[in-house]
Amino acid sequence: MLEVAQLSLALSGRRLLHEIGFSARPGQITAIIGPNGSGKTTLLRALTGEVPALPLPGLRLSLNGHDIARTKPRILAQFRAVLAQSTQVAFPYTAAEIVRLGLDAGSGGAAPDLIDRLLAEVDLPGAGGRPYHQFSGGEQARVQLARVLAQARQPVTPEGPGWLFLDEPVASLDIGHQLMVMRIARSFADAGGGVVMVLHDLNLTAMVADQVLLMHAGRLLAQGRVDQVLTDALLGQAFGCPIRVGRAPASGPWILPQSAA
Ligand SMILES: Nc1ncnc2c1ncn2[C@@H]1O[C@H](COP(=O)(O)OP(=O)(O)O)[C@@H](O)[C@H]1O
Ligand SMILES: [Mg+2]
Repeated sequence: MLEVAQLSLALSGRRLLHEIGFSARPGQITAIIGPNGSGKTTLLRALTGEVPALPLPGLRLSLNGHDIARTKPRILAQFRAVLAQSTQVAFPYTAAEIVRLGLDAGSGGAAPDLIDRLLAEVDLPGAGGRPYHQFSGGEQARVQLARVLAQARQPVTPEGPGWLFLDEPVASLDIGHQLMVMRIARSFADAGGGVVMVLHDLNLTAMVADQVLLMHAGRLLAQGRVDQVLTDALLGQAFGCPIRVGRAPASGPWILPQSAA
C-alpha cells in the first residue's frame, strides 16, 4: 500500500505541491494526469523519496508500511523501481549493461538469461550487445523500461508487493509499443504488484487506470475511478480547453478535444 497524506513540497523556494492525499493499492494501476507543469513529475519524485516533502503536520508518506523519508534507498530498491521522465547515460554502455544496472539496484541473484528475456519483453530481442547510444529515442526508452523491470521483476517480494513508478513511460513510443507497455503494467498489477504512472494520453488512461489522480497547479483536482475523474467538466477545468468524453459500449470511454473555435 502507498499511503500519502498532507504531502506538500517546495523546491528553490517555490511551493510546488499542496496538501496531496491519496492511497494506491497493489493490484491496481494508478495514473497521474494533468497539464504540463502541474506537478506530476514532482509528485512522482516525492513519492519515491527523491525529493523531500515539507515536514508539515499530518504528513504521511509510506510504502508497504515504510516511512519513505526514513528508509534507506537500498531497502526501498528491493521493492520499488523508478523510471524517470528522462535518463542521461554518460558512459558507452550496451543495452545489456543498462539492464544489468537494474539487477544491481534490486536484490540481484538473477537467472543468466534474464537480461535477454527482459529485452525481448520490451520487443528488443537479441539487442543486448548493441551500444545504447545507437538506439532510437523510443528504443532507448524501452531499454530503460527493461532496466526497471530487471529491478522490480517480482510483483510480490519478501518485503511485500513490488512497485513500479513510471514517469511518462510511453512518451516517445509508437502506438503498438504504447499498448505493449500498458500490457506489461497490467500484468505486473494482476500478479499482485502496484503501478503508479504519469500518463499524458487520456485515452490510454481511460483504458488502463484503476485509479486516476488529476493534477492541476500542484494540487489534486480530483481522484477516483476513470468514470469519476475523466469527465468533460474536470478535464476542461484542468486542461483549460473544451474536452468531451464519449462512451462506446464495447470499449469504454474515449476522450476528444473539441475545437476551441
Ligand atoms: N527544482 C525545481 N525548482 C523550481 N521549480 C521546479 C523544480 N522542478 C520543477 N519545478 C517546477 O514545478 C512545476 C511542476 O513541474 P513538473 O512536476 O515537472 O510538472 P509536470 O506535471 O509537467 O511533470 C513546474 O512549474 C516546474 O517549473
Ligand atoms: Mg513531467
